[in-house]
Amino acid sequence: MTDCQEANSPMELYEKLTAQGDKVRALKTDKAEKAEVVAAVQMLLKLKVDYKQTTGQDYKAGCPPSETAAAVTDNGPAADGDGGEDNVDPWNVSTTNAKGVDYDKLIVRFGSSKVEKELVDRIEKVSGQKPHRFLRRGIFFSHRDMHQVLDAYEKHKSFYLYTGRGPSSEAMHVGHLIPFIFTKWLQDVFDIPLVIQLTDDEKYLWKDLSLEDCHRFAVENAKDIIACGFDVNKTFIFSDLDYMGASPDFYRNVVKIQKHVTFNQVKGIFGFTDSDCIGKISFPAIQAAPSFSSSFPQIFGGRKDIQCLIPCAIDQDPYFRMTRDVAPRIGYPKPALLHSTFFPALQGAQTKMSASDANTSIFLTDTPKQIKSKINKHAFSGGKDTVEEHRKYGGNADVDVSFMYLTFFLEDDEQLEKIRQDYTSGALLTGELKKILTETLQPMIAQHQERRKQVTDETVKQFMTPRPLNFNL
Ligand code: TYM
Repeated sequence: MTDCQEANSPMELYEKLTAQGDKVRALKTDKAEKAEVVAAVQMLLKLKVDYKQTTGQDYKAGCPPSETAAAVTDNGPAADGDGGEDNVDPWNVSTTNAKGVDYDKLIVRFGSSKVEKELVDRIEKVSGQKPHRFLRRGIFFSHRDMHQVLDAYEKHKSFYLYTGRGPSSEAMHVGHLIPFIFTKWLQDVFDIPLVIQLTDDEKYLWKDLSLEDCHRFAVENAKDIIACGFDVNKTFIFSDLDYMGASPDFYRNVVKIQKHVTFNQVKGIFGFTDSDCIGKISFPAIQAAPSFSSSFPQIFGGRKDIQCLIPCAIDQDPYFRMTRDVAPRIGYPKPALLHSTFFPALQGAQTKMSASDANTSIFLTDTPKQIKSKINKHAFSGGKDTVEEHRKYGGNADVDVSFMYLTFFLEDDEQLEKIRQDYTSGALLTGELKKILTETLQPMIAQHQERRKQVTDETVKQFMTPRPLNFNL
């Protein structure tokens, strides 16, 4: 251990390293004496070694040791030598493990906290409601600062919710519903306002789509979101393409964030390269801005101090690690987060569903016949090859996609546990399990479609008009 390591906390070391990096760059730019540059580089290398020894991580400019320690470009292989490799970022989710991503390891790598039973009990106590099945079953498995949100709520300091959707096509799949179903529950039990960002700008920048199409998809997706049952008096849905131009306060926050995040930082967090367009590089500031209440003066009357809680799947966390890093530097509270696991593709938990491959997912537009046929043909089974073997050895519910889907959507805990036991013992066959899932999803999707039909253009306009909302903070 060197002197430097003994004398410094990880954060102090990180700051020293950043300053030394700046010094090396300045010396090189100023064409300083070679000896001076060499000495500065040697000091930089020494600090990097100390940093690695202290934190167990490689130094990355723009990624301080606490929150942003797990840069998505380098979240690397699973560390227990089981050969499993997880890759989780806003654009890719994949793993070599048939049970899916190792979420406990992700918590460690991303530096978030596990949703322990104690937190679930506390949410129940504070809200006075039975916890949602997503909480009871560990689907919302990770969080940042949830205890702080509840502490404040108990002292009658309320908060607001923020979530979003990147409208890349007209049809959303069932996985996209997970954060919205949960957000609706949070809105109901805590009786709080909600803002929903539709990042049509993001999809224009990342995909080969026209601005008009992205905006149209945003409006179409808003209908599916509204069909989840949000309260129009407490919910503001906005398209970035519309709201950025309409709200000076929102844009001011975007610019503040842009000023406080360097290119190096976003490279470290998002893996941008020199050939990415500048729109992508500055986009994270736009996804960060709704985390601050002053971006919505029509709702919060110009207050900057209202705490935000963001429910989303864990793939979006890189955006909010950046946001939480920048928040205190621009005088705003850090947003809290609740992260969900991924609703798996029909083919297995190794990947997230893809909106561009119809057979990987159940879409909200699927007919009962399509749902049945997709489940029967594509849902990966943990059953045995023959009925005899299955009866004798039983199935593996841990890798069975039909069972995984039921954990998301079957409300009754006892029924779910009985299905798990029967499948594991071999009493329940794969075909029978698939039938239970089909009969669970068909009415759920049909009801969603029915509610969506009731959403008129006028309703969408109401939700998407900047206006005051009805709540007490
Ligand atoms: P997008 O459109 O990729 O996803 C929308 C929301 O759905 C979650 N999600 C999933 N959840 C469970 N299982 C899945 N298979 C699955 N696939 C997607 C995502 O985590 C997300 O919560 N950039 C964002 C839009 C956005 C946003 C936000 C999301 C803007 N602001 C704030 C969450 C919170 C995007 O493209 O999401």
